[in-house]
Amino acid sequence: MELNQIYQRDCREYMQSLPDACVSLIIADPPYGISKQKAFSDRSHGVITGMSESWDIFGSDSEYCDFTRKWVSQTKRILKENGSIIVWGNYISIFKVQKYLEETGMYYKGLITWVKRDSPPNATRRSYALSAEYAVWYCKSKTGWIFNHDNLKRLNGGKQMRDFWDIPKTMTKQEYTKHRTQKKYETAERLVVGHSRKGDLIYIPFAGSGTEIEACIRNGRNWLATEMEKSYIEDFIVPRIKTAMKMQTTTNY
Ligand SMILES: C[S@@+](CC[C@H](N)C(=O)[O-])C[C@H]1O[C@@H](n2cnc3c(N)ncnc32)[C@H](O)[C@@H]1O
Repeated sequence: MELNQIYQRDCREYMQSLPDACVSLIIADPPYGISKQKAFSDRSHGVITGMSESWDIFGSDSEYCDFTRKWVSQTKRILKENGSIIVWGNYISIFKVQKYLEETGMYYKGLITWVKRDSPPNATRRSYALSAEYAVWYCKSKTGWIFNHDNLKRLNGGKQMRDFWDIPKTMTKQEYTKHRTQKKYETAERLVVGHSRKGDLIYIPFAGSGTEIEACIRNGRNWLATEMEKSYIEDFIVPRIKTAMKMQTTTNY
């Protein structure tokens, strides 16, 4: 197993090639299944174009659930005994993924709420303005999981890290890529620092623009990642890896 590699592969089949108990942490930011093929219109705002990424479009809810069950069901086997998995979701998908995480027999440890105060208003005005994403944390074993309380506290300016993350979604020009669902770097760094140790191996099934990979490199963790879209690898991930390598192990978390 060659470490620190990004593979243009479907994570569902790539995971089958990994040996048992080989990774300390899985950070998964999967499709939420919120994309629509067509834009929709609204009397006062005209046509509203939402997410329409091909990788996020599923034929039906049961197709999305099948997809989720398939990748989730393989995660326990590849985790080390003291390993954890963190999965991102929105207010709908998080409950679906949790159902399949429960099926694996892993242990529920927590739920992080990322509040984005700078989220846009709800254009339909038929519901709340969505401003939060959620991350569920499961451990493979009932005891012995990794949680670096003191490092997280330092990262959080000396205050104990809460499970409520108040982090604006707006990115600097330097951080921003054109990937539609790029996570803010701070979110990835907190997960890497909090749930793994230096030199540990982290698997990132849905690499996207490479945010979690960057957090691994800058914090001295080993990593393996999969991403299906070739252009994301070429345009976003590879350049981010190169930049992060230049500052490798700049942190002492
Ligand atoms: C929500 S995005 C991840 C964003 C990432 N956290 C970031 O900050 O850039 C999900 C990514 O998973 C990729 N993807 C979707 N299905 C996949 C699969 N079966 N295997 C690997 N990658 C997949 C998509 O192309 C997309 O880039």
